[in-house]
Amino acid sequence: PKLRAFARESRITPEQLIWPMFVSEGATQAIASMPGISRYSLDDLRREVATLPELGLLGVILFGIPNHKDETGSEAHADTGILAKAIRAVKAEVGERLLVVADVCLCEYTSHGHCGVLRDGRVDNDATLPILAKTAVCYAQAGADIVAPSDMMDGRVGAIREALDDEGLIETPILAYSAKYCSAFYGPFRDAADSAPQFGDRRGYQMDPSNRREALREVELDIAEGADAVMVKPALPYLDIIREVRDAFDVPIAAYNVSGEYSMLKAAAANGWIDEDRAIAETLTCIKRAGADVLVTYHAKEFAEKRLHERD
Ligand code: PBG
Repeated sequence: PKLRAFARESRITPEQLIWPMFVSEGATQAIASMPGISRYSLDDLRREVATLPELGLLGVILFGIPNHKDETGSEAHADTGILAKAIRAVKAEVGERLLVVADVCLCEYTSHGHCGVLRDGRVDNDATLPILAKTAVCYAQAGADIVAPSDMMDGRVGAIREALDDEGLIETPILAYSAKYCSAFYGPFRDAADSAPQFGDRRGYQMDPSNRREALREVELDIAEGADAVMVKPALPYLDIIREVRDAFDVPIAAYNVSGEYSMLKAAAANGWIDEDRAIAETLTCIKRAGADVLVTYHAKEFAEKRLHERD
């Protein structure tokens, strides 16, 4: 074991992991398609998050599910909205012991489930930008350490940076979901966040899974607009993209090991078809090996709790 440790090239530790958490106005509910993951009430979110710093996790990324959805997703940026309240509650609990990332997107908040506002039945990219900017400002003011736009509108990083700076939030970094593919692996998340589009799909704004060069262009544009770190999503079918981005740019790179990747592993483990703990450790180590600095993964808490990084 010591010789293997001597020669080991990639290591994954809890301090590189961000745990996604869902919060809603209602009571805590288990998510059927994601065993072990829940939508928390505000109180339970606060209780749950209090246990995370001692596990050594890097942070959490928060997703809000509002009571009320409308055409423009106005609860996304309401100071009394679910996510602003959740950020304040979590920060009050953990202070600087945990990084709090706020996902910035409208799909959980719009009645039609698209990530932007509509005009004539189509997503209007440019009309969405000021709303996203307002949303990012709202979360930063509530205390988020990082804002992470996941909507894939063009120009949103620049719009968010300008709005943050105008409000004096010059120290709030932007983690851009830059290479976010239009993926079937988001299925369980859309159950969890109640954010499936009510018509059509997201192919107009998320990336075509066939494309590699376009990912580099998306990353380059986001960095030019002011992104401090970039994300590739999903992770496992896109390890080549993580590597390409790593080789071409020197900003921190996050990879999102998404809901469908999580649920597939859980389903196989529940059937006794794979060794769950080994599969989790291997999955996360290999995403690291591909070039990610930070992993967003639903396995974060169990990985840390079971100390999977300490097993040989
Ligand atoms: C919101 C968003 C999605 C995910 C993260 N932010 C869903 C989507 O784009 O449909 C997916 C995360 C996951 O599947 O775990 N736009």
